[in-house]
Amino acid sequence: MFTVLSILGTRPEATKLAPVIHALQVNPKFTCKVCITGQHRQQLDPFLKLFEIKSDWDLDVMLPNQSLFQLTSKLLLGLEKVIDECQPDLILVQGDTTTVLAGSLAGFYKKIPVGHVEAGLRSENKYSPFPEEINRRLADHLSDLWFAPTDKAHAALLREGIQDEKIFVTGNTGIDALHWVLKKLPVQPDPSWNLPNWNPNNRLILVTGHRRESFGKGFAHICEGLSMIVKQHKNVELVYPVHLNPNVREPVHQQLGNQDRIHLIEPLEYTPFVYLMNQAELILTDSGGVQEEAPSLGKPVLVMRDVTERMEGVEAGVSTLVGTGAERIFAETSRLLTDDLAYQQMAKGVNPYGDGQAAKRIVDILLQYADLAASH
Ligand code: UD1
Ligand code: UDP
Repeated sequence: MFTVLSILGTRPEATKLAPVIHALQVNPKFTCKVCITGQHRQQLDPFLKLFEIKSDWDLDVMLPNQSLFQLTSKLLLGLEKVIDECQPDLILVQGDTTTVLAGSLAGFYKKIPVGHVEAGLRSENKYSPFPEEINRRLADHLSDLWFAPTDKAHAALLREGIQDEKIFVTGNTGIDALHWVLKKLPVQPDPSWNLPNWNPNNRLILVTGHRRESFGKGFAHICEGLSMIVKQHKNVELVYPVHLNPNVREPVHQQLGNQDRIHLIEPLEYTPFVYLMNQAELILTDSGGVQEEAPSLGKPVLVMRDVTERMEGVEAGVSTLVGTGAERIFAETSRLLTDDLAYQQMAKGVNPYGDGQAAKRIVDILLQYADLAASH
């Protein structure tokens, strides 16, 4: 048996590793173990429940507003014990969070091979997104197998001297998860979701935002831009599930808390969030995952960041990088609300991030890897 230890800590990691964990679990060649770091708690647990992921270890590291120093050191100490107990043949991490950095570093310290799912994303800007750009670069250089979602990610890894024969272009596993949820999506919203009441005659815009490099001025400007949108477009309503990070919640609630046609709500579980993406006319976000998901639903995305590591969407014409300035956010949103041709061009674009088969490809590669390991 070949033991794979998947390490995950936040909602996007749960969503994007779930399809891989499911595929590993049904394959008799693998023993599939899961360590939840608990970097997120309230924003993670409903995702674990939805995807029926049971943890073998839960480090439960989350504390309100903890620093990256506290988080990183607790993760590393916790993971040392987990790896000692589990004795995995391979560690899997996904993405670019601090859990990924600690998971890949822990694997390296223990000389256990690491597979990086969603390898090779690059903004080429050290501090944006912060700290994700450096987390993923370090994770890639600590890894032994690279699952690149796109050709662009593959090329970035090659540029950094990573061996071509260990890089596999698989598509993004987030699209697998999205397809899985779409199959079960009810036509009507479930009352337990507690979605806000918006006027069905109004045009709906969905908003998310949580990037650290936008804390402070960035969020103040984003909120100003959102405010301008509802003031100028009287038939527009915004729904914004606000991330639990206090550096996001405080400015967002302070600036947008009492405005007509702006619904600030708690972070949503995955199924209601996908339902809302489907209902929205367009999406304003700084999220990595949402940039990848929205094109599968035919929803134009305005990316409220200065740079993105997901340029495939911009190049395919399904997303636009609008920065965090209020005027530009307002202007680009207004353009899509008033120029139907521009809107349709974005909405009809093809999703460059995957076809929903990424997890199968990854597990096929892991099978070959396990066979090779057994023959040595
Ligand atoms: C983290 C990741 C980011 C990822 C995002 C996904 C890092 C440094 N950041 O950002 O890459 O895009 O998750 O959402 O790895 N909090 C809660 N409950 C939760 C989650 C967060 O209360 O379930 C609050 C806590 O006060 C916590 C703070 O948010 O200390 C920050 O959480 P953290 O995981 O460090 O960073 P995120 O901003 O969530
Ligand atoms: N998401 C969700 N509920 C929300 C906000 C986001 O289910 O209230 C989902 C979203 O569809 C995507 C993932 O969470 O799958 C993205 O998480 P986030 O934006 O926090 O992280 P990132 O992708 O930027 O790392």
